[in-house]
Parts: sequence; structure tokens; C-alpha cells
Amino acid sequence: MNQLIIPTKIYSGTDSLTVLNQFHNETVLVVCDAFLPGTDSLKMILAQLNGSNAVTLFSDVKPDPPLVNIMAGVKVFESVKPSIVLGIGGGSAIDTAKAIRFFGEKLTHQEILSFIAIPTTSGTGSEVTNTAVVSDTENGVKFPIIKNHLIPDIALLEPTLVMSAPKSVTAFSGLDVLTHALESLVAKDADLFTDALAEKAMAVISNQLVAAYEHGQDVALRQVIHEASCSAGLAFNSAGLGICHALAHQLGAKFHVPHGLANAMLLPYVVGFNAQDQTVRAKYAQAIKKANLGPATLSDSLLVKRLQKHIFQMMKAMHCPKTLTEFGIEESAVRDNLAWIVEHAKQDGTFAGNPIVPTDQELAQLVEQIIK
Ligand SMILES: NC(=O)c1ccc[n+]([C@@H]2O[C@H](COP(=O)([O-])OP(=O)(O)OC[C@H]3O[C@@H](n4cnc5c(N)ncnc54)[C@H](O)[C@@H]3O)[C@@H](O)[C@H]2O)c1
Ligand SMILES: [Fe+2]
Repeated sequence: MNQLIIPTKIYSGTDSLTVLNQFHNETVLVVCDAFLPGTDSLKMILAQLNGSNAVTLFSDVKPDPPLVNIMAGVKVFESVKPSIVLGIGGGSAIDTAKAIRFFGEKLTHQEILSFIAIPTTSGTGSEVTNTAVVSDTENGVKFPIIKNHLIPDIALLEPTLVMSAPKSVTAFSGLDVLTHALESLVAKDADLFTDALAEKAMAVISNQLVAAYEHGQDVALRQVIHEASCSAGLAFNSAGLGICHALAHQLGAKFHVPHGLANAMLLPYVVGFNAQDQTVRAKYAQAIKKANLGPATLSDSLLVKRLQKHIFQMMKAMHCPKTLTEFGIEESAVRDNLAWIVEHAKQDGTFAGNPIVPTDQELAQLVEQIIK
């Protein structure tokens, strides 16, 4: 059965924060990114909350959220017993808020009324997904908590909040969106609905991300990229992802490669690998033509090559390292951990979505291709 269930109410635009005006007399736990306290962005958001609400702020958020930080937030949740949780920031902050909610509700035996997500990166789509990716730093593993209950009730896409992000964050998170689009397009549970969301996100990112990187203060550009990010999130939340994410999660856990960058390095090779399958190749080709990345006269195989080249060109234009050694990781460190990466990738929650089941050797080869 094909299905598309979108429980999140999504509001997009520079006036979207006014949606917060509707809440009165609530106990609000704001879980926000560490860069936010003291900024105009946070002031602008909190100014929309009516004075009758009791607001508590938790901002001890780290990238690739470690369980230890999450547990500190759970303690705050237990003492405040919020009716509303507001997650504001990059994917790491929103995932921290989701995980705090997850454990907090279990421990207090009390469900919140509403979870609101306000992303400040255009990347993870966490504002509409059922996933919180967390890190168990003691055991060096990164894993997703996947529960439909964690899908935010409200997502506010305020494009100017993204503008303070460093250029590298715009590049990496934007390439994460491209990966979500291209993986969900061919994932096992893809259908017409998710194809529509993924194809549009892919076209927008392929054609406009570099411009947003170069002209970060352009509100209209930021808004279209923010909406594409959300669309790709909706697509993969239903369709699933694949081996690019399964491997990227391990590179994040082991070597702290930023999530979007790890995906971007692997993406052209994963696309090439999955394009062995004729049906997958045809789906990529269709999306490539719709995104105007190649003429309809080219064969599906040549269109896929155009896409791979285009990803490399985008990375170059945005000054992204293309290999792990370029990023600063020793070749020997990657080789020493190759078996571990392959083993953990196979256990990752995103692995099963891939259209082709790879052998261990094929997974290892994908990582080897990005070593140097
Ligand atoms: N929940 C999901 O569905 C899902 C999907 C994909 C990835 N993820 C996870 O999300 C995380 C990555 O999220 P991300 O790519 O958004 O990066 P991030 O949240 O880790 O943020 C990267 C850095 O940018 C800073 N930052 C964020 N927004 C900023 C802004 N507007 N101005 C200035 N600084 C800003 C953050 O403080 C951080 O230092 C990873 O842990 C990844 O595994 C989750
Ligand atoms: Fe991702």
C-alpha cells in the first residue's frame, strides 16, 4: 500500500513565526542550538511567545548529539514538565529536542501537547521526520531513534534564521538535502508522492544551492532552499534512505565528518553503484531531465554521468573537500576501521531502504573511493 501521512503543519515565510502567537498559559521548554542564546534570532522567536507562557531554555546542544547532553536536557524536562517543546537550530538541536521529548515523556509518564520545530539550517528535514539521530560517544556509535510519535506537530520555516550559518554549513547541509532527495527517489518504499517531493527538491538544490551559498542574504533563495529541504525530509520520511546515509553515519561517528559532507563525498559513487539497476537508472534519468541537468537525447547512463559530474562541480564551487584525506583523516585510520564501518553500516536504520543490497566488499569499495 502506498501512503503519504504528513502530520506536521508546515508554515513557511518571513512571517511564519507568528504561528507561535496562538499559545497561552503553556509551559514551554525551548531546546535551542548553542549558537542561539544572545542572538537577535532567538530574541525574534521568543518575542512571539505570549507573556502568559512559562519559558525555560536549554541550550547545551552539541553537533551529532551525544546522549550525555540529551540526558542533561531530560533532567530539565522532568523538573519543568513542559506542555510544549520547541526545538530550534540545526538538525542536531532539533534531534536533541526530539530525544529529550522521547525520554522525558517516558520518565514522567506524561505526553506533551505540541512539539514545534524551527530549523536554522536547510538540511536534515528533521522538522518533519520521525527520526532523532543521536551519538553514543562511549561506544563510538551514532544511531537513529525512529518513532512516528516524534514527528513534529508544527514546523516553522523562517528563511532569515538560516542566514547566520557559516558558508560551510550552508554547503554541507544543502548537500545533505540532495542526498535525501536522491536516496529517497530510488529507495524501496518510494512511490508517486515521495517521487514528486524528491524530484522537486533535487531540481531546486542542483540549480540553486550554489547561488544560495554565494548570496546568503537573498531571502527568496534561502526560502526556496529551506522549502526544498523540508520537501526532501517529507520524501525520505516515507520512502526511506539508503547506503549513502548508512555509511555516512559511521564516518560521522568514527571521524566526526559533518553529516552532509560525508554524504556528499559518497553520493556520486552511491548513485553510480545504484544505477547498475535499470529501473533505478531510469528513475535517476527522469529526475535529471526534469532538473535540466542533461538533454533528453542522452542515454540514461550518460545522464547519470552528468549528475555525478554536477555533484562534483557543486562541491568544488562550494569549497568542499572531496576525500577523507582532504578533510584531514589519515588514510591508515580509515583502512584500519573499514571492517567496522561496513559492519555498522549494515546495522544502520537507513541501510534497508537501498534499492540494491550490496556485498560487504562493495560497501568497503564505496568508502575506499573517497579515501584520497
Ligand atoms: N532527524 C533527521 O531526520 C535527520 C536527518 C538527517 C540528518 N540528521 C542529523 O542532523 C545532524 C546534522 O544537522 P545539520 O546538518 O543541520 O548540522 P548541525 O545541527 O550539527 O549544525 C552544524 C553547526 O552549525 C551551527 N548552526 C546551525 N544553524 C546555524 C545558524 N543559522 N547560524 C550559525 N550557526 C548555525 C550549529 O551550532 C553547529 O555548530 C546530524 O547529527 C545528522 O545525523 C537528522
Ligand atoms: Fe541526512
